Amino acid sequence: MSNYYPEELIEEIRVNNDIVDVISEYVKLEKKGKDFFGLCPFHKEKTPSFSVAPAKQIFYCFGCGKGGDVIHFIMNVENLDYIEAVKLLADRARVTLSEGKGKEENEKANLRQAVIQVNRDAARFFYNELNSARGEEARDYLRKRKVGEQAIKKFGIGFAPHDWDSLYRHLQSKGYEEKVLIQSGLILNNKNGSYYDRFRGRIIFPIFDVRGKVIGFGGRVMDSSMPKYMNSPETLVYNKGKNLYALNFAKNSSDKRLIIVEGYMDVISLHQGGIINSVASLGTALTESQGRLLKKYAEEIIISYDADTAGQAATMRGLDLLNDVGCNVKVLIIPDGKDPDEFIRKNGPEELKKLIDKSISLIEYKIKVLRGQMNVESTEDKINFINKIAGILAKVDNRVEIEMYAKKFAREYEISSESILAEIYRRNKPKASFKNAVIDFKGLKGDNRKQQDGKDREIVHDERMLIALLCIDNKLYRLIRDKIFPADFVDEGNRKIYEIVMERLENNKDMVPAELLSILKGEDADNFARIMQMECNCEDNNKAVLDIIKRMEIYKLDQRKQQILDSLNNRDGLEKGDVEKLTLELNSIIIKRKNIK
Ligand code: UTP
Ligand code: MN
Repeated sequence: MSNYYPEELIEEIRVNNDIVDVISEYVKLEKKGKDFFGLCPFHKEKTPSFSVAPAKQIFYCFGCGKGGDVIHFIMNVENLDYIEAVKLLADRARVTLSEGKGKEENEKANLRQAVIQVNRDAARFFYNELNSARGEEARDYLRKRKVGEQAIKKFGIGFAPHDWDSLYRHLQSKGYEEKVLIQSGLILNNKNGSYYDRFRGRIIFPIFDVRGKVIGFGGRVMDSSMPKYMNSPETLVYNKGKNLYALNFAKNSSDKRLIIVEGYMDVISLHQGGIINSVASLGTALTESQGRLLKKYAEEIIISYDADTAGQAATMRGLDLLNDVGCNVKVLIIPDGKDPDEFIRKNGPEELKKLIDKSISLIEYKIKVLRGQMNVESTEDKINFINKIAGILAKVDNRVEIEMYAKKFAREYEISSESILAEIYRRNKPKASFKNAVIDFKGLKGDNRKQQDGKDREIVHDERMLIALLCIDNKLYRLIRDKIFPADFVDEGNRKIYEIVMERLENNKDMVPAELLSILKGEDADNFARIMQMECNCEDNNKAVLDIIKRMEIYKLDQRKQQILDSLNNRDGLEKGDVEKLTLELNSIIIKRKNIK
């Protein structure tokens, strides 16, 4: 709950950003009944399960469970934090936020601008050095690696001389302040106050942002010394996790697919071979921001990471992440454990293009990796393998697809498709709902932990439902006021939320659903949005609330009853009088409990 901005201001921003208008800028919405539906921007789907409710000013996806108010939507879709999202919406609605945009903001913007300029000048310097007499060994190196003149130009490849401060002196002669140079990450400062260059004796790869501005650098040694690469640190303009190398070029490709590789050299080789729909993640784990960026520019993402174990793990994480942000993902496997650059050098780009067309799906890749880790000689291993395949396929929500895969794997791995399918359907069998579970009254002897857990979950859900209904229909306040108190809540979080809502209603203020969501974060917001969208469509809110209150009372009685039974069963610390008292209380609970029913 971020209360950085006053409640009224947030409310003003929300009122001026109608959720349907805002979401329509990102998702094509169609009206169905009183709500709007469209394809969810947060997960991959073919039929719309993403709903927007103008009346409640909330969104909720029936597919992936994301939900919230307009601020949550912007946070999720633009990958912003709360403050940033509020700023964006304030801008959109032309609401002025008093803070920010002050002197400090301005200074930061100026510094950012200056760093970009330093970077551009540095890139020019490195490029000129490569083509000077001093750059001879670097040019040799690039020639050996088959990086041609055109690629050098296109990627602005350069060379950082060996001396300690050639770049520093160059930039100083251009009149840059030391403060700016330090901010750029290109120049470092040592203890005795002198300045020196970060990159020395390296081939330099400038890193561009999508618009082609130089935001950072990578530098490779020309022999086998370590570290192989050095990179710019995070600066005012460079954020590793938000950028993809070569996207400024790749975005202009007409191919609907984008290939993502690990390294500078891989991308350069690919582009040189005419495969310009490729970018590099530069050896770090893919982030959600990068996933969104990719999704924006391509319909299908093909990962081609090293086939070694580290690369395999990275591929797997990358695949899951991309899949989660809603990308169609595939894997390009290069034989003999080569990286794309090596493969092209050896077999030429045409051969690589053929491999690209043979990329396999996420599921096929998972099974392949699994198969590689197992030895399916024995029956036991085979069963184990089938179970694991079923585990992976069970999560696919399309029956046709499941059957297709089951057949394919059966063929490929010589196992029976029937046993895979049987195993999948066994897993997907709907589970008995808690609602129908019989609550056993007389025999509370055994330890019913599992059922208890289910009941806990159910009551926490009831509590949320109560709060949700209260926000949808503020009149319920009078009905609830003397029946349910914060202390009656099992869930700590719900208790706090209830206190806030009740306090507002007590003071004759209202509390609409979107306002409730705005004081919640992450999963809490998802949960409440789901309940508001899916479950609060009762014909009779009064009755729904009374039912919940009844269940909360029953739950409390059952809890107390269990406590008493537990103490009676193990009488160690009990005096004779205690036993009597407890027995009396137990009887009265049983009677109360009967009367409620
Ligand atoms: P690779 O070792 O695969 O590099 O690391 P590469 O691009 O194929 O380079 P060559 O072919 O050996 O010349 C992949 C990426 O990981 C990052 C770099 O971005 C590199 O391109 N990396 C690697 C580092 O940042 N530091 C390192 O020491 C090594
Ligand atoms: Mn390589």
